[in-house]
Amino acid sequence: MVDPADAGREGKVSNRKYGMRSEDVTSVTISASADSRADSSAAQLSPPDTAGIQLSPGDLIEVVAGEAAHGGWCVARVDGSGPVVFVRHTLPGERVRARITEVTARFARADAAEILAPSADRVGPPCPYARPGGCGGCDWQHASLPAQRELKASVVRQQLRRIAGIDRPVTVEALPGEDDGAGIPGLGWRTRVKFAVRGDGVAGLRAHRSHEVIDVSDCLIAHQGIRDLGVPEQPWPRATSVEAVVATDNGERAVIVSGQVRSVALKQTPAESVLAMASRGGGASSGPRGRSGRRDRRDRRDRGDRGERGGNSGSRTDLLRGHSHLLQHAAGRTWRVSATGFWQVHPAAADTLARAVLNALRPQPGDTALDLYCGAGLFTGVLAEAVGPDGTVIGVESSSAAVRDARRNLRATPWASVYRGDAGQVIATRELPPARLAVLDPPRAGAARNVIEYLARPAPGGGDDLAGERRIAYVSCDPATLARDIALFAAQGWRLEDLRAFDAFPMTHHVECLATIVSS
Ligand SMILES: C[S@@+](CC[C@H](N)C(=O)[O-])C[C@H]1O[C@@H](n2cnc3c(N)ncnc32)[C@H](O)[C@@H]1O
Repeated sequence: MVDPADAGREGKVSNRKYGMRSEDVTSVTISASADSRADSSAAQLSPPDTAGIQLSPGDLIEVVAGEAAHGGWCVARVDGSGPVVFVRHTLPGERVRARITEVTARFARADAAEILAPSADRVGPPCPYARPGGCGGCDWQHASLPAQRELKASVVRQQLRRIAGIDRPVTVEALPGEDDGAGIPGLGWRTRVKFAVRGDGVAGLRAHRSHEVIDVSDCLIAHQGIRDLGVPEQPWPRATSVEAVVATDNGERAVIVSGQVRSVALKQTPAESVLAMASRGGGASSGPRGRSGRRDRRDRRDRGDRGERGGNSGSRTDLLRGHSHLLQHAAGRTWRVSATGFWQVHPAAADTLARAVLNALRPQPGDTALDLYCGAGLFTGVLAEAVGPDGTVIGVESSSAAVRDARRNLRATPWASVYRGDAGQVIATRELPPARLAVLDPPRAGAARNVIEYLARPAPGGGDDLAGERRIAYVSCDPATLARDIALFAAQGWRLEDLRAFDAFPMTHHVECLATIVSS
């Protein structure tokens, strides 16, 4: 089966053509203007020697939606056996009239324009921008929350089966407090939102698979603290993006504005903290400043804030007001997290995952554990508490700001330390102690190959630290790369013991998984 996520790799439109027999097309309705056909002649699906139909962007087709696919689509086949079409804004079993939005060498994409036979799981999307041609942020607003979780569970199961060859039932668990937003479950959870800014200064959200910025007045999945900032209501001249983040425990908010925007950034937002990000040499780079816009040395000393390179070495982030970090709460304590750094966006996710990782690893006093891709040290910290002063925990993280946060967050547990660097390089170049336990929480692309090989290798010399079963808790926001990496562990004789999945991103197609992988 083709995966719509592959399309990024093959470019938007190809001129390869699909063959379709004429008898396949009896139940297919196609309409398109002559103009749209002419514009997209390179993307037509049928070879010229068939009497079949030709699909082009703009065409309308009538299909019955099949199972959900990774990315927020349902798979359909034109006429039930023709070319694969990934249809958005529909649900499994629905008969829809869908407009083709894109054609690639192997499949087409479409958006459901009319629902001819609705699913029992269909609901009215709470957000007016969650519609064909609207905002690209939410994929499943038209499904009830239990149905969304079923869809995500089927996608995780499908990815595991197809990529790792493992077939097992999957349940997606709701996170605690999911009904905190505006009285409607599944809304108000998103504690970090990045608004794109158009050339005319309007901040909005991107359309699906597009650079187009949709002029939204509000985002209903955003946390109330972010909605109250009113970012889309303000003009942001000369900015390229405005990112808002809130700490739910104390309500503190930070806004990170990219572009040539120092004075605008300060004026346009009531956020407690404001940071400006500019490409190097781009003007917003004279170091930390206080409310007046002047350097604020006292704040710098007290809170350890300073201007710093962004994650991308071509950018620099300067503090204009407030603090460069937020204080987040999880696992019974407070964590310092840079405003630009990673923290789970659902208010209940960090706490839930910390507990789940401990349950998966079952750390004992005196254990040694690694936490690769450790961010601000959430899992390093909870593992350090569990293994106690006779144990050792080592985190590895590439972002300098996150490493600073983690080291600060781990001060009370000196048997936990953090190495800065690319995880693959640290594994290759530094001596790490043999560890019976490990957490992997990589970005969407998954773990580096040599990281997996290192963790999966046979216990060296049967040393005491590695005697008995070794356990890995693999936290992932992408079931496809998770399945790929589980397969790599399995090839080394490891076994998937458990897989939990959490609805950490309601209304979107995203899902957070925790795989427990054990040495056999
Ligand atoms: C999904 S976050 C997990 C952070 C942490 N476990 C948490 O839950 O808060 C992934 C982290 O990996 C870091 N990272 C990305 N690529 C990396 C690499 N190649 N080597 C080490 N760390 C990396 C990112 O900076 C980010 O902090």
